[in-house]
Amino acid sequence: MYDFKIEAADKATMYSDLASALQGLVAGEPDGIANMANATGLIYETLPDVNWVGFYRNIDGELVLGPFQGRPACIRMTFDQGVCGAAAKTRQVQRVEDVHAFPGHIACDSASNSEIVVPLIRDGELLGVLDIDSPKHARFDAEDEAGVVRLAEIMTRSI
Ligand code: SME
Repeated sequence: MYDFKIEAADKATMYSDLASALQGLVAGEPDGIANMANATGLIYETLPDVNWVGFYRNIDGELVLGPFQGRPACIRMTFDQGVCGAAAKTRQVQRVEDVHAFPGHIACDSASNSEIVVPLIRDGELLGVLDIDSPKHARFDAEDEAGVVRLAEIMTRSI
């Protein structure tokens, strides 16, 4: 078992340490499922106030559940469904302060109140999305977005 203890004093340092740990964890491993699985474990263990961390993969234009930590979730979504679908369709980060106010949000875990979804794009191809949910309202700010985008960039080269 890997034991990453990331206890940085500030958010920027925490994401920097998290990115370094993730880079080390996936380095040299060609299996994308293994890398996604370890990434969810690392992110879930490190970020405070999150209740779901996982990947949806773009399989023939549909988002299909991949490795995750948290409660069992919705298995398939179209690009017209949910926050994940919006991220896939627009290829833009979706940072949602109140998921209950988001049209079409899919509530997999009623504990979730805010969420961030980052599209994973490599060479113009949408590979999938990284989805992180929180029970706290407005859990993710611009600094979280920058940090999670950095994690997503590492994953686009590792899946
Ligand atoms: N909330 C998501 C659905 C997936 S679960 O949160 C894991 C959405 O609306 O895209």
